[in-house]
Amino acid sequence: MARLYGALAILSYTVPMTQLPDSFTILALETSCDETAAAVVRGGRDLLANIVASQMELHQHYGGVVPEVAARQHIISLVPVIEEALSVLPRGWAEVDAVAATYGPGLSGALLTGLNAAKAIAWQQGRPFVGVNHLEAHIYANWLGIDDRQPTTDDSQSRNARERSSVVGRRSSAPEFPLIALVVSGGHTLLALLRGHGQYELLGQTRDDAVGEAFDKVARILGLGYPGGPAIQRIAEGVVGASTLPRAWLRDSFDFSFSGLKTAVLHKAQERHELAARLPTAQAKRKAQNAAQAGPKPEQPPLDAQFVGQLAHAFQESVVDVLATKAVAAAQRFGASEILLAGGVAANTRLRQELTRRASVPVRYPPLSLCTDNAAMVAAAAFYRFEAGVQSGWELDVAPGLRLA
Ligand code: KG4
Ligand code: ZN
Repeated sequence: MARLYGALAILSYTVPMTQLPDSFTILALETSCDETAAAVVRGGRDLLANIVASQMELHQHYGGVVPEVAARQHIISLVPVIEEALSVLPRGWAEVDAVAATYGPGLSGALLTGLNAAKAIAWQQGRPFVGVNHLEAHIYANWLGIDDRQPTTDDSQSRNARERSSVVGRRSSAPEFPLIALVVSGGHTLLALLRGHGQYELLGQTRDDAVGEAFDKVARILGLGYPGGPAIQRIAEGVVGASTLPRAWLRDSFDFSFSGLKTAVLHKAQERHELAARLPTAQAKRKAQNAAQAGPKPEQPPLDAQFVGQLAHAFQESVVDVLATKAVAAAQRFGASEILLAGGVAANTRLRQELTRRASVPVRYPPLSLCTDNAAMVAAAAFYRFEAGVQSGWELDVAPGLRLA
């Protein structure tokens, strides 16, 4: 890999394509939202270090990510996280061949921290640098060479402080093109056709809420807290015979829509609140009396657990049905050899199960700890960028609204 990339006035440029050696080692940073992450990946597929400092507890208080708080926390966490990631390399920097960072999409203040740090480090150490699209990175979590198709514990749901990845498993074969990628995260929902590395065709995307966003909003309506995805999955587990909620099929399109579903949940919750207010049971009356004696009353009493479980279950089934149906149809129409699931919602057990059950081609999803934001996936995507001869110039800026295609 050429290291002649001094002062360049272009955003990205290409050097001749080369087959990079399996020893090619990338340090990657990810700070697009509320996780401060650094990782070291060798040969694009071997995970040497995957450090994630989650800000979940900070934002839980507000019921969602506060951009200013996230940016400030990245500044605090970034250096220790990078140092921890590099500590796995006995010869330190001597073993790092290149540096990468997410430059979009995401929160601009948050993105700036990681991107500027990565450029500064690469410049100071004299290493090539590439900026990575966060959506592409989520897809490339599937290249990280770990077969984790029978998950037993959901480590993505229990992380709060800094976490050293506990990913173990057999080395799997690399995904084979053409591929269908279903990207389902807190900010995005899309179906894409991949004909080769970096060759994306956008087949459809959400017209309103992203799936993760819908999970988070519905969890809020149901009083389940943030982040909503894991909470809804947990409470919906084991619920049987629940009623169904509508599905937005949008005819033959590969687009999605989840805001109507979210509103349906809201209406059901409101009806329940009204019913409870009109017909107070003896128990509810007692609670109200106690609450009145205890001080100022809360705006609305919590919904009962059985009702919440059934609604959460119906919501999750509706989402999973639409996602699985469209991903399977896309794989059939474009003759895909595999379906890749990516993004935070790829951690959802029902989605994994249902997609795998319905698809006639193999379905691949990252290990749980690599579904939500991490830097290992950034390093994996960067490897194939470098291999294609792509590098970024020092003037690369953040792109909060960056698209996949
Ligand atoms: O990819 P990600 O970490 O951040 C973005 O790039 O947006 O995704 C976060 C989203 C959140 O909305 C969270 O509720 C959702 O992923 N999520 C889940 C599950 N685990 C995380 N949604 C459904 N089921 C889960 N088990
Ligand atoms: Zn993400």
